[in-house]
Amino acid sequence: MNKGKQLYEGKAKRIYATDQEDIVWIEYKNSATAFNGEKKAEIDGKGRLNNLITGLLFKKLAEHGIESHFVEQLSENEQLVKHVNIIPLEVVVRNAAAGSIAKRLGFEEGTPFKEPIVEFYYKDDALGDPLLTEDHIKILEAATPEEVQFLKKEALRVNEVLVPLFSDMDIELIDFKIELGKDKNGSILLADEISPDTCRLWEKGTKRKLDKDLFRRDLGGLTEAYTEIYNRLGGTL
Ligand code: C5P
Repeated sequence: MNKGKQLYEGKAKRIYATDQEDIVWIEYKNSATAFNGEKKAEIDGKGRLNNLITGLLFKKLAEHGIESHFVEQLSENEQLVKHVNIIPLEVVVRNAAAGSIAKRLGFEEGTPFKEPIVEFYYKDDALGDPLLTEDHIKILEAATPEEVQFLKKEALRVNEVLVPLFSDMDIELIDFKIELGKDKNGSILLADEISPDTCRLWEKGTKRKLDKDLFRRDLGGLTEAYTEIYNRLGGTL
C-alpha cells in the first residue's frame, strides 16, 4: 500500500489517499486542542499514543461484533482505515456526569446516571458543535430518524463493551464521544478515534483523571496518563 496525496488535515490527524480507492491512510498528529480550537499545544508522543490506543480498542470492539473503519496498524502513528463519509454528528454516551452536562444541568462531577444517556452534537466548528435534539437533526438533514436510532443503539453497544473492558483495568468510563460514517455500500461504521482524547477515564477509587481533561484543565501529566491507559490495555511502552 502506498501513501498518496493528502486529502484532509484536521486538528488531530492528516488523511492521505492510497492506491486503493476505498482505503485511506491516517497519520495522528501531536497537536492537542480544546474549547473548539481556542486552546492549542503540541504534546510529544500524543499522536502515537492515540493511534495505538484507537487501534487496540477498535480491535477489541471487532471481537464483540462491532465493526469500525479500522483496517491495519501501519506504524506507531499511522493506521489504514476504510474510507467513509462521516455523518456530521458527534455521538456522546455518558455513564456519569462530567464536563458539559455537569455545567448545563448542575450535576456534581462524578454523579452516576442510573442508565447511560446518549446525546448528539452537530459537527460544525463555526457553530461550536451545538447539542441537538432529534428534531434538530431532522431539519438539518444530518441523519434520518432511522439512522439516529441506529447511531444510538450502536453507541450503547460500544458502551457495553468498553465499560467492562476499562473496569477490568480499574478505570471508570465516565463518558465518550464517537463518530460514525458510511462506507461505499452505505453501511454505517464506527470511525475516527476512541482514545483518552475522546473519553473521560477516571482511575477507580482515586478518581485520578487519565484523559484529555489533564490538558483542558492544565493539570499536566498527559503523556504519562495516556501511556498508562495503553499499558493497562495490554500495550507495552
Ligand atoms: O465536553 P463534554 O462533556 O460534552 O464531552 C463529553 C465527552 O465527549 C468527553 O469524553 C469528551 O472528551 C468527548 N468529546 C470529544 N470531542 C468533542 C467534544 C466532546 O471527544 N468535540
